[in-house]
Amino acid sequence: HSLTMAKRDFSEISDTCSWESPDYEPWFPVSEKSNPLTRDIDKASPNHIVRLLAACDAQMFQTDTGTIYQRLFSDSVVRTMLEVARTVEQILRDPEDSLIVLSGCGTSGRLAFLIASRFNRSLRDRQQTTVYSYIIAGGDRALLTSQEASEDDPKLGILTLEKLCEGKRHVLFIGISCGLSAPFVAGQLDFCLKHPDIYTPVLVGFNPVTQAREETMPGYSLTFREVVQRMEEQRGQRAFIINPAVGPEAISGSSRMKGGSATKILLESVLAAAHTAAFTNTHVTRRVLLDMMRGYERVYSVTYSHSDQIATLLQTAGLSLQCGGRVCYLSWGSLGLVGLIDASECIPTFGADYEDIRGFTSGGYQDMDNIEGDLTSLGSQFCVAHEDFVSLVLPTLSDRDTVLLLYTCHDDVGEVEKMAHRVREKTSNLHSLYHGLEGDSAADSIALLCSSVLNITWPSSSTVHMQWELSSKLVLNAVSTGSHVLKGKIYRNHMVDLQVTNSKLYHRAIHILQKLSDVSLTQCEEALLKAIYNVEQLPEDITSAGVTTHTLTASRRKRVVPLALVCLLIGCSLSEAESRLESHPVVRDAVEACLTSSQHLTSSPGDQTSTNQ
Ligand code: F6P
Repeated sequence: HSLTMAKRDFSEISDTCSWESPDYEPWFPVSEKSNPLTRDIDKASPNHIVRLLAACDAQMFQTDTGTIYQRLFSDSVVRTMLEVARTVEQILRDPEDSLIVLSGCGTSGRLAFLIASRFNRSLRDRQQTTVYSYIIAGGDRALLTSQEASEDDPKLGILTLEKLCEGKRHVLFIGISCGLSAPFVAGQLDFCLKHPDIYTPVLVGFNPVTQAREETMPGYSLTFREVVQRMEEQRGQRAFIINPAVGPEAISGSSRMKGGSATKILLESVLAAAHTAAFTNTHVTRRVLLDMMRGYERVYSVTYSHSDQIATLLQTAGLSLQCGGRVCYLSWGSLGLVGLIDASECIPTFGADYEDIRGFTSGGYQDMDNIEGDLTSLGSQFCVAHEDFVSLVLPTLSDRDTVLLLYTCHDDVGEVEKMAHRVREKTSNLHSLYHGLEGDSAADSIALLCSSVLNITWPSSSTVHMQWELSSKLVLNAVSTGSHVLKGKIYRNHMVDLQVTNSKLYHRAIHILQKLSDVSLTQCEEALLKAIYNVEQLPEDITSAGVTTHTLTASRRKRVVPLALVCLLIGCSLSEAESRLESHPVVRDAVEACLTSSQHLTSSPGDQTSTNQ
């Protein structure tokens, strides 16, 4: 029923120009293309934003349309997933000296952690040896904060992997890079290929191999694409590539959204199928795998069948951000990590302050089970337990702030209610997201304290926890993305004020500048460099320096892309661009004001009034 509802609801949203056409932004890989569906998301109402996000997410489950792109349910993809699941199954049957490592940068590393922890927990529950581990570029602090620079370092990737796997006889290495682009992961995959006696590499990403990144990697002789080509030579025996296309992200390049969801769907399906086989003494079958994936498709539909409630959440969160308030996710149990991850991504994605959208989980680090343990001593940003919320946030909470409770029927509802009362003393802006099972009912006492309630009911299944996580991820992604759209952080479907902290983001920034200003890439790069170094002329030592030097400098500067854009659009100096941005603190307004004045300049060159604008 909900599947039909979701399909009917979003049928009005369709793209007249398909991203799959070979002529559509041919210079970009799928993961960096702009989605034709969301071209005007920056002007959409909360309800429409949710519908656009739903339509974008639906592209994850689209079947093969006969283009060059293989999709989630394509035979070739399912076949490779099956092969990887069988390798996992073998390890589960004979785990001694074996390890399954999941590795990635940013969101991909966070999901590596989430998935590895979940499946280790499931092994522990069965009194089995744990076999999973994770690597995130930048170490555990990257689980909660942005450590983008490590993504560019292939050698660091290798060293971390080697250290983790010391003494192991067999390692199944799963490298996640949505864009087939992170040098950190490429180095690890290449290392695995060079040591086939121990390592079997699996690459998970969402571009065709021909769109893997071609840029040289610092201190390395190969590009990501060359590593992938070497994997292809070994494909199906000693190396596996799982790379369906899931369509461009709703906000261009924001792979935390569909990229993250598809990573979760793919890997959890593979691992859950392997666990089922190993512990029921059967073998992994295509049917079990497909059932799992279809289950996730239902999660998508069921979740978005609550679009109106999601829109309410997004609107209230947007209002909080617009008036300088905060948004807090207070989660219990397994939803804790989902909240922490979504909140932490807002810092690099939207240049948000860590206090803008913040996650807290009931058990704090005790429940997280991360390699480096309690990180609280690293600073307030790393305080993630409910006690921290009570001491750091609650005292100053007001109606300007939005608080969202996330819990399930497996959590201690009494505890949730207690917290709801404490929050309610400070703000009436309290909301809840609850996942229950068919047959049980949500606690009315909590609902009565909330100004909006989103209750989702699920049929019971052994994998329902993972479904709740995906459902919560979709809701929170919509809330955090939508509220930043409402705050004016997005222009069309581009995040213009991105932080230029690694080489992928450096090149993305240049392309955004080119798209919005319509001048050459060389001019855009020059404008970006001037903004990064805060100079009106580029001296030789800057133009000859490498991208790493540029991104290091950029990480200490603010608003470099909007600055460069204003300079390009108006042809003005950096100092003038700064003052224009100051008079338009909302990036979208600043861009629009400049575009209007640049159009006046070009359309009526003789008109004094327009040239003076
Ligand atoms: O460096 C920024 C970033 O785009 C993150 O937002 C993202 O999660 C990470 O890179 C990893 O990207 P990928 O999965 O494509 O390697």
